[in-house]
Amino acid sequence: MLDKITALKEEIAALTAENSDQAEELRIKYLSKKGLIPQLFSEFKTVPVEQKKAVGQAINELKVFATDKINELKAGFESNESAGQGIDLTLPGEAMKLGSRHPLSIVRNEINGIFTRLGFTIAEGPEIEDDWHVFSALNFPEEHPARDMQDTFFIEKDPDVLLRTHTSSVQVRVMEKMQPPIRSIFPGRVFRNEAISARAHCIFHQIEGLYVDENVSFADLKQTLMYFAKELFGEKTKIRLRPSYFPFTEPSAEMDVSCSICGGKGCNVCKYTGWLEILGCGMVDPNVLESCNIDSKKFTGFAFGMGIERITMLKYGIKDLRLFFENDTRFLNQFNSAY
Ligand code: DAH
Repeated sequence: MLDKITALKEEIAALTAENSDQAEELRIKYLSKKGLIPQLFSEFKTVPVEQKKAVGQAINELKVFATDKINELKAGFESNESAGQGIDLTLPGEAMKLGSRHPLSIVRNEINGIFTRLGFTIAEGPEIEDDWHVFSALNFPEEHPARDMQDTFFIEKDPDVLLRTHTSSVQVRVMEKMQPPIRSIFPGRVFRNEAISARAHCIFHQIEGLYVDENVSFADLKQTLMYFAKELFGEKTKIRLRPSYFPFTEPSAEMDVSCSICGGKGCNVCKYTGWLEILGCGMVDPNVLESCNIDSKKFTGFAFGMGIERITMLKYGIKDLRLFFENDTRFLNQFNSAY
């Protein structure tokens, strides 16, 4: 009898089932009223008295063992099957979240697009610069305030290593490397030692433009910028050039566009003037051409520079510059564009 119990235990230990029905069949075979284990209890009567204790214990242990084993087999299927039943395959899936482009990237790409259509190429230069490319080659006088620690982030002094304060430095790098004709724009990040507020930041973005060739005139500059303004702000946009001063251009001007919000009638964005200032420009100063080994008797050129944040604020009516750098998705999600 004990041998029979041991054999049955080995048999049960090796049991497997492929689904819950098979597991149930095994329960019936071994544990139901007429199953193999209850049958052992009926055979128990025939066991000699001196063996009854050992055999009785063995049968009870076998019953517990078989019950555990079969429950274990069943449990495996229950969790699988109920998991499958919980899924409603007809429910709509979770939509993939699409990102949107940063408004500054949208506007930069749009501006890049306008100038590339005019035949300008795009170039970039380093953010960490030296005095020559940011100031000296651009005709900045020795005592100019931009050269002061107050306005510029210096990394090292003598020789100066600094963060560029404008993308005009890329003009110099490009002219040093190649001879005219040059027709390029230079987008990039610039740095100034400014207190952060709704209207100023220590990091911002500019796009610089440069066109140098024989016979380039102020009329070319004006026509290029007028085309640009109409493309960016709409066909009805008017431009106006006001005399200004930059060390690297002569003559220099600042360009205003008619306010795209009120159409020039006057509103709080244009401070009731009807005009918005968007860029600085001028004819490249002959001293700058000579600093870059370009013959200023043979070649002339125009240059311009604009702040991408400012243009983006005007285009979208954004009132606080800090929003561009906070990465608040409630702000960023509002911008969608083919660019
Ligand atoms: N670099 C000037 C600035 O950061 C902008 C500028 C003005 C660029 C006139 C030019 C220019 O190329 O001709 O304020």
